[in-house]
Amino acid sequence: MAAFRSQFECRNDDVFLASFPKTGTTWLKALCHTILHRHDQEEEEDILTKKNPHQVVPTLWSFLSCYLPEEVTRSPAAAAGCRKLVYLARNPKDTVVSMWHFYNQVHKGSAGPLSVERAVESFCSGVMPWGPFYEHVLGYWEESKKRPDEVLFLKYEELCGEPKEQVRKLASFLGRSFPSTTDGSVEKVLWRSSFGRLKELEVNKYGAVGEQGLHLSHTIYFRKGTVGDWKNYLTSDMARCIDQVTQNKLLGTGLSL
Ligand code: A3P
Repeated sequence: MAAFRSQFECRNDDVFLASFPKTGTTWLKALCHTILHRHDQEEEEDILTKKNPHQVVPTLWSFLSCYLPEEVTRSPAAAAGCRKLVYLARNPKDTVVSMWHFYNQVHKGSAGPLSVERAVESFCSGVMPWGPFYEHVLGYWEESKKRPDEVLFLKYEELCGEPKEQVRKLASFLGRSFPSTTDGSVEKVLWRSSFGRLKELEVNKYGAVGEQGLHLSHTIYFRKGTVGDWKNYLTSDMARCIDQVTQNKLLGTGLSL
């Protein structure tokens, strides 16, 4: 974090994408890239057919990460006059379940699998990789309220529920609005970035990437891509526990997740 603050050089037209892990970062990267390069009409011109979204839009990884909390990204970005940041948030229960699956995939073969009970406990106590979740989300939420023209706050569930509206909003924020008269190019962006398409591309089925010393298969980024999968894994007690923490943490903030 210190290295990021002191050494990362922003350009004033950079756009930061920020998120908590497992909240749809891969999708956000694919969407932003596709919006900005949507005039590459031919399929073979689409770099997403050759590279995973994390290779196309690099993560300021390990210590330098787009998973960094808001106060860390703020000063280098502000110093460079970089104004635009897109944050993607997701329902906490789906985030826990997605993270739990991811963790067990990454650590497969080493220690025994992490139980879902432990994953929920860690999430609720905030003691987890990149945690605590709520402080992360709220840092960006507060900034988006203070600087709505500079910080766009999106939600995974809204992207799933009203994709065209959300993609139009994102494109307009990125300075690449779609013409209001037609939906064709919005639909194309959505399709190119879609879970179903990306998951089936050769590069994502068979490719792999090295991250933080790990060799991760690209398939790990594409599990289910739905809203509400938590219902298949969390007991009602676990769900209640997360809901209670969510309610306490978000009380009075105007944010619902
Ligand atoms: P699930 O584990 O619930 O399926 P991240 O990209 O931040 O690691 O988040 C991963 C989550 O986003 C996973 O959720 C993954 O399946 C989902 N995801 C990845 N690509 C997606 C896409 N193009 N559209 C929707 N969801 C996507």
